[in-house]
Amino acid sequence: MDIFRIEGPVQLSGVVNINGSKNASLPIMAAAILAAGESVIKAVPYLSDISIFSQLLGQLGCRITRSPNGDLCIDSRVIDNPVGEYEIVRRMRASICILGPLLARYGRAEVSMPGGCAIGDRPIDIHLQGLRELGAKVHLKNGYIVAETPNGLTGCDIFMGGPFGSTVLGTANVLMASTLAKGKTIIESAACEPEIVDLANCLTRMGAKIDGIGSPRLIVEGVKELQPAEYQVIPDRIEAGTFMVAAAITAGQLRLLDCRLDDMMAVVDRLRNIGVTVEVADGGCVVARRGSIKPADITTLPFPGFPTDLQAQFMALLSIGEGNSVVIEKVFPDRFMHVAELNRMAANLRREGPTVIVAGVKKLIAAPVMASDLRASAALVLAGLVAEGTTVVNRVYHIDRGYERIEERLNLVGAKIFRESAESMAGGLTSKISERVEK
Ligand code: EPZ
Repeated sequence: MDIFRIEGPVQLSGVVNINGSKNASLPIMAAAILAAGESVIKAVPYLSDISIFSQLLGQLGCRITRSPNGDLCIDSRVIDNPVGEYEIVRRMRASICILGPLLARYGRAEVSMPGGCAIGDRPIDIHLQGLRELGAKVHLKNGYIVAETPNGLTGCDIFMGGPFGSTVLGTANVLMASTLAKGKTIIESAACEPEIVDLANCLTRMGAKIDGIGSPRLIVEGVKELQPAEYQVIPDRIEAGTFMVAAAITAGQLRLLDCRLDDMMAVVDRLRNIGVTVEVADGGCVVARRGSIKPADITTLPFPGFPTDLQAQFMALLSIGEGNSVVIEKVFPDRFMHVAELNRMAANLRREGPTVIVAGVKKLIAAPVMASDLRASAALVLAGLVAEGTTVVNRVYHIDRGYERIEERLNLVGAKIFRESAESMAGGLTSKISERVEK
């Protein structure tokens, strides 16, 4: 239960290396289930979500090792327990993407139904509908999804559109399952996120036949078997976006290495609108802000629209902008746990359903705040960089899920963030109180 103590305001300046993508790594780790043998995945970040997923694969029977150069090796020769246990799945929803690969390779899978989530409703009905259309019998038993296809999966046309557009992990599940299905599958309204493109490219490296990669229509010709492969995941565009906002919110300048602007057009468009410069530089870009933060409207959408995973971070930025901005969340309409916490730091945010009106304030004031989910916690850390005084962010385990040693990397470019265990914090507090009582 670590906390962050953040001294502000600061101005960031320097170079940051962007890590491999968490959201590309997770489904690509699941894809290793599809082929018997050792898959080697490169540039997988050191995150608690990756460790939890490794435990999940280990519990299925896979052998997971990290080689000295950081490569993640997944030996899936033996999978003797095709069950995704509640104890692991409840800690990370992305566990659901073992369902399609297990079903395709073993004809049977049991995966605990994912529970509630701080960012809102996250049903998996489209995942299950897609697998049913491929011929799987799916039912719920004691909180577990049981999927069976004794005679194997059969290709067909599947529409994957939902009330909020395409589904990322739903597309991943059905795409992976269809690679070993008999015949052709057409996945319509497939997610086009760079992480799905990365998964499809990895599956192609394993021997899958996939056309239309990067488009909303994926055409998959099923094959008899896949081979393990060596694959390097793409850089993390959400991590890159978070560091871009760190440069912008502190009126600083950061050079980001290994970030792909091609995956971030909507993000760069908004930053330039707000008055932030983003210039291409060798192997990355330079992000800086000199003038004031202009108001801007942001609407989150599936890729290539503005990513919902950067909504909270941009809200923190716009909270100290000039004038009013409007943020509309069209992917997870309830993804606003950060709003009340930012208001505790003297922001002026008003929520109306899936919309937040951001009335820019001159400055933020430090306060103790509570992280509730991965991206909300990133927004609180960014706000702490510019708030006057010492901000204490509680429950930073949320941020460790998606950002590797974020405090160290920010401190290297000028931040003052101290990680402490909540206990030492409590210890300090109690001694202060007893001192006071004694006085
Ligand atoms: C992925 O989640 C990401 N997670 C999320 O990032 C990201 O926010 C999300 O895509 C959207 O970009 C990973 O890749 C591990 P969805 P996913 O299915 O696939 C509704 C982070 O911060 N829906 O695309 O679970 C759903 O409720 C995480 O790194 C259905 O209605 O999201 C949502 O409103 C958080 N039925 C919308 O679709 C379904 O069967 C998009 O969800 C599936 C989804």
